[in-house]
Amino acid sequence: MSWTKKDLLGLEYLTPEEIGLILETAESFKEVSTREIKKVPALRGKTAVNLFYEPSTRTRVSFEVAAKRLSADVINISTETSSVRKGETLIDTGKNIQALKADIIIIRHNCSGAANMLASALDISVVNAGDGWHEHPTQALLDIFTLKEKLGKIKGLNVAIVGDISHSRVARSNIWGLTRLGANVTVCAPEMLLPVGIEKTGVKTSSNIDEVLKDADAVNVLRMQFERDEGAAFPEQLDYYKKFGITEERLARAKKGIIVMHPGPINRGIEISSEVADGKNSVILEQVTNGIAVRMAVLFLVAQAREAKA
Ligand code: CP
Repeated sequence: MSWTKKDLLGLEYLTPEEIGLILETAESFKEVSTREIKKVPALRGKTAVNLFYEPSTRTRVSFEVAAKRLSADVINISTETSSVRKGETLIDTGKNIQALKADIIIIRHNCSGAANMLASALDISVVNAGDGWHEHPTQALLDIFTLKEKLGKIKGLNVAIVGDISHSRVARSNIWGLTRLGANVTVCAPEMLLPVGIEKTGVKTSSNIDEVLKDADAVNVLRMQFERDEGAAFPEQLDYYKKFGITEERLARAKKGIIVMHPGPINRGIEISSEVADGKNSVILEQVTNGIAVRMAVLFLVAQAREAKA
């Protein structure tokens, strides 16, 4: 099959075949980062713009590295020092970037739907780097890529996603991607952090982490998003670390060989212990490395599709 979409907005909108194509393309790009000269000319002459309305370390740097490995030019726009501070709208900002002849906008925004809205208004490619509580598709793709690399398959795997499911775009993208590919997904959290109706997406729910870990091949541990919900209960109030924190003691009772993932940034001692985050079951930094190949694949495929349409 060939990729036909000019944008990547979310895994909800992709078929299993399209997800498979991104993963296969990422596999072929992974080797580039091991070369002495870590570069291929696939996007030479193209310009990618990182437009981030929210803080980011991993995603922003990873997209920049990915674009540079493909020989694209990269421009980083900080909304703190741009005309966004003077009240320019998202669409006006996007249209101006398009008028400056950029080829791809990589956007992170605090509003759900921001990437979709921008993509509808522009002819150039838009890649969603996380929008509100909606989706973070490249994070889920790199999570799935890492799972497949470590465990050899996705179909039939038992994957637990633990933590602040309500506020998590990472959880939503993982749910769409993993269920499309045939994994059995259980989301585990205190009831107040489980969105109403989440079962309709094909996942099981639980508030008993020890039961969930007994069968899980992998656990993806989510961060507590203190910045999103002022006035919400703090983990201390929920006794969160004691009841849900991924600790060595808890892991000792889990399925043998379970792998531990986290999208970052980590809140050590809140959702995960340092011993587990840095321990032998953890693949957290491998996820970060795999993000480069996955994002190279996404940038390459959307740029190709846009060129084919032009
Ligand atoms: N995983 C993730 O999105 O991290 P950043 O916020 O640092 O990009």
